[in-house]
Amino acid sequence: YSETSLPPNTEHIYLAILIIWMILWEVGSESIQYSVLEETESGTFVANLTKDLGLRRGELAARGAQVVFKGNRQHLQLDPQTYDLLLNEKLDREELCGSTEPCVLHFQVLLENPLQFFQAALRVRDINDHAPEFPAREMLLKISEITTPGKLFPLKMAQDLDVGSNGLQSYIISSNPHFHVVTRNRSDGRKFPELVLDKGLDREEQPELRLTLIALDGGSPPRSGTTEIQILVLDINDNAPEFAQEQYEAQIPENNSLGSLIITVSARDLDAGSFGEVSYALFQVDDINQPFEINAITGEIRLRKALDFEEFQSYHVDIEATDGGGLSGKCSLVIKVLDINDNTPELTMSSLISPIPENLPDIIVAVFSVSDADSGQNQQIVCSVDDNLPFLLKPSVENFYTLVTEGALDRESQAEYNITITVTDLGTPRLKTQHNITVTVSDVNDNAPAFSQTTYTLRVRENNSPAPALHIGSVSATDSDAGANAQIYPELVLDRALDHEEEPELTLTLIALDGGSPPRTGTTLVLIKVLDINDNAPEFAQSFLCCCYCYAVVGKEPYNAVGIDVTVLFFLKYYIC
Ligand SMILES: *[C@@H]1O[C@H](CO)[C@@H](O)[C@H](O)[C@H]1NC(C)=O
Ligand SMILES: *[C@@H]1O[C@H](CO)[C@@H](O)[C@H](O)[C@H]1NC(C)=O
Ligand SMILES: *[C@@H]1O[C@H](CO)[C@@H](O)[C@H](O)[C@H]1NC(C)=O
Ligand SMILES: *[C@@H]1O[C@H](CO)[C@@H](O)[C@H](O)[C@H]1NC(C)=O
Ligand SMILES: *[C@@H]1O[C@H](CO)[C@@H](O)[C@H](O)[C@H]1NC(C)=O
Repeated sequence: YSETSLPPNTEHIYLAILIIWMILWEVGSESIQYSVLEETESGTFVANLTKDLGLRRGELAARGAQVVFKGNRQHLQLDPQTYDLLLNEKLDREELCGSTEPCVLHFQVLLENPLQFFQAALRVRDINDHAPEFPAREMLLKISEITTPGKLFPLKMAQDLDVGSNGLQSYIISSNPHFHVVTRNRSDGRKFPELVLDKGLDREEQPELRLTLIALDGGSPPRSGTTEIQILVLDINDNAPEFAQEQYEAQIPENNSLGSLIITVSARDLDAGSFGEVSYALFQVDDINQPFEINAITGEIRLRKALDFEEFQSYHVDIEATDGGGLSGKCSLVIKVLDINDNTPELTMSSLISPIPENLPDIIVAVFSVSDADSGQNQQIVCSVDDNLPFLLKPSVENFYTLVTEGALDRESQAEYNITITVTDLGTPRLKTQHNITVTVSDVNDNAPAFSQTTYTLRVRENNSPAPALHIGSVSATDSDAGANAQIYPELVLDRALDHEEEPELTLTLIALDGGSPPRTGTTLVLIKVLDINDNAPEFAQSFLCCCYCYAVVGKEPYNAVGIDVTVLFFLKYYIC
């Protein structure tokens, strides 16, 4: 292998990575839909993912399949044996989605090795587990005896937490000669009852009436709620209060402080004295989500509870004005809540691969998703990593990103990277979240052992050789790889007789092998000069060296730290010629 060649399986890995990328881009356009009824027992079978995703038997397990919901919720789980998709908990549609219908929870099935995503969605279907409920067991209504037939009287509505056909559908009233009830739609889609006067009332004949109002939902079988309406017939109070507008509208930012004024409503009553004095009240006082209060005298509506745009985007509030004689009028107020950038973006790490191999481009290091609970501009997100690092962020399906290497990494120049992923939204002020990951680069045997010199010259004195093993010098070799790839196994490739007459110098080739698979090698020349000294007769020196069998060994143990000396030991055997 030359210094620049890559290990033999590199091309396969590279191809595999390209294919993974293609899969990553192709998958995700379609999403698999599952549906369950709310309140289904945990552990219930939802789907055979192996079949639905068209995978091989056992592939889900082999590829470390995960189910990823937004915000790390785990509504579903994979059966540890069969890898069937199961319910992980009882789901309450009303809690998960409130009045939003359909109630759809998006999730991803993530496979590693190779990385692949599948988009999926779980629809939680409603069951009729709630009955309509009136705010009170009894309602009081005061009506003047001079009221003409055809006049409408809005009544308090019932609430049903179910949706669609399981939600509240209609109102009926016990049969009586004076009134019938109609079901009306409110601007927020809820249905309220209105009493219609069919036949004039006469206080002297019947001062009080009692009716039963029933709210019905459309479930099968339907559920119902009832309330009693007590009607008091009043003597001469000619006029009921009338609001200046039938409908008011207001907009407030969600971070408005408690007690802040939202709007002032006003109603007029043409009567004099107490019959003309108006006091204000919220019509549906019971409304649990109601964060407003009204001043009974001034009609000022103020904030009583903090708002959260992420929970409710608008409110429909009914306001009642009542005069001293008990007659009342009604108006509606629609309050739109405006989003404020009050949620920091969130990052959910689905997969982090570390260490990653060096020398390969486009390695997927991490897969993560980002989200922001705000809306509009406040929800738009940009994701970044430090420009100076050799990593790129690539948007993938939906709100997923992958972090990939930009070009091949070299472990020998940097073996560890601290990467900060910054997620920023585009709201004002901008909010950001940071996520730090550490990625290490694993070694590939791409460096051969290198000797510190290309040639070493070692000198040995001819008469200085009583022992069979003679330490005559040191050479050193280093390998900049890591682990086994950096272990050095020295080896000598010369083992022959030396005839000083012909060859007064001995040239050995010393090879260093590393422990990689396959190993790489480095070589150096070791020149051994046998020095003649002048204390003997020249003939003796020559005859001493005339036939010298020489071999050399180096230490048998591998050297794995960079720069450790390799000691060369020469065993010299002498033969008298
Ligand atoms: C799921 O489907 C696969 C492929 O059709 C099948 O081999 C496997 O037996 C099924 N699993 C169960 C638990 O039925
Ligand atoms: C009320 O809304 C429903 C659909 O939500 C519609 O079918 C019905 O006709 C509406 N009724 C009135 C009186 O507008
Ligand atoms: C609401 O948020 C906006 C924008 O961040 C800010 O300018 C304003 O002062 C906040 N209002 C209150 C009452 O905190
Ligand atoms: C990465 O962070 C760790 C812990 O903060 C630190 O010890 C290490 O030196 C950092 N590495 C680099 C390459 O900056
Ligand atoms: C992430 O790293 C940056 C810079 O290295 C540091 O300022 C920040 O505090 C770290 N954040 C976390 C959550 O550790």
